[in-house]
Amino acid sequence: MEVHLTPADLRATMERDVRDGLTTSPKCLPPVYFYDERGSRLFDQITRLEEYYPTRSERWILDHHAGEIAQLAKADTLVELGAGTCDKSRILLDAMGANGTLERFVPLDVSEEVLVEAAEALVTEHPALEVRAAVGDFHRHLGLLPREGRRMFAFLGGTIGNLDPAERRRFLAELDCAMDPGDCLLLGTDLVKDPARLVAAYDDAAGVTAEFNRNVLHVLNRELGADFAPDQFAHVALWNAGEQWIEMRLRSERDTTVHVRALDLTVHFAAGEELRTEISCKFTPTGLEDELLACGFVTQATWRSPGDEFQLTLATPYC
Ligand code: SAH
Ligand code: TRP
Repeated sequence: MEVHLTPADLRATMERDVRDGLTTSPKCLPPVYFYDERGSRLFDQITRLEEYYPTRSERWILDHHAGEIAQLAKADTLVELGAGTCDKSRILLDAMGANGTLERFVPLDVSEEVLVEAAEALVTEHPALEVRAAVGDFHRHLGLLPREGRRMFAFLGGTIGNLDPAERRRFLAELDCAMDPGDCLLLGTDLVKDPARLVAAYDDAAGVTAEFNRNVLHVLNRELGADFAPDQFAHVALWNAGEQWIEMRLRSERDTTVHVRALDLTVHFAAGEELRTEISCKFTPTGLEDELLACGFVTQATWRSPGDEFQLTLATPYC
């Protein structure tokens, strides 16, 4: 296990992000803080919800096309960014194994507990596989990933959609620099579709997504000694048609003052004021291909799930 992100490091970044986010207008928080142990478990529940089609759709593509992906990629190393529970990685690892190329798996995630558990399970299931789990931030630590082997970088789950367009371009440019000739990128993106279906995926009837959204307030209470009353914030999910993204917000039900002890910061929320916690960009196949090209990647192949809900793209850096 390689740890690029120590608890002290994470804490310092969190302090800066939270101070910046709560003192700008409108208020916002970066999504990375959702994923403490509880948040990761809640996300895992989201992936099993009827309304949350992206995981099912992406898994369908992998179930049907992983063999072809492995043959095209010819990679011996699977690097997975934001790997989480590594559920879908198994399908790719099996396909690379069947292709006779598999040597090593490098899952990267900020959430250490979930990563360790997933990596230990994989070591047991694949005794011959070299598993080199890395705790780190895909915005900062791409250059520190193991460089040996021919690597396929998988970035699944539509997580790239959680970066705003400027962050996304920066991320792709950094990834391009971190990649060697022969390496490739397997990118999972959710596609633009009926807004009602999109919104339902982020506002399920059982309220799991609402609880996931509010979890970020529990994290701030625990880590920074804040005194948010999470149940007084309502979960909001809406489709921003102009930006083509889903926005998640937390709306303060009442006029309230929150104190963040570790930052010695007092923040006022008016009744009805909203804190933006996440965006999830949705793509069109041509828009994505153009954007990848502008960031140094040539699309080699694409696969879509039934109903064109979700897309996997295999791309290679052109430098
Ligand atoms: N790939 C999985 C999980 C997606 S959820 C799937 O497709 O189901 C997003 C994952 O990215 C979480 O496991 C979260 O802990 C991780 N993550 C979020 N921001 C991150 C960052 N900045 N650096 C590394 N991992 C991050
Ligand atoms: N990458 C996932 C997505 O954009 C993350 C996610 C799913 C999410 N549901 C969420 C983030 C709810 C915040 C709130 O689909």
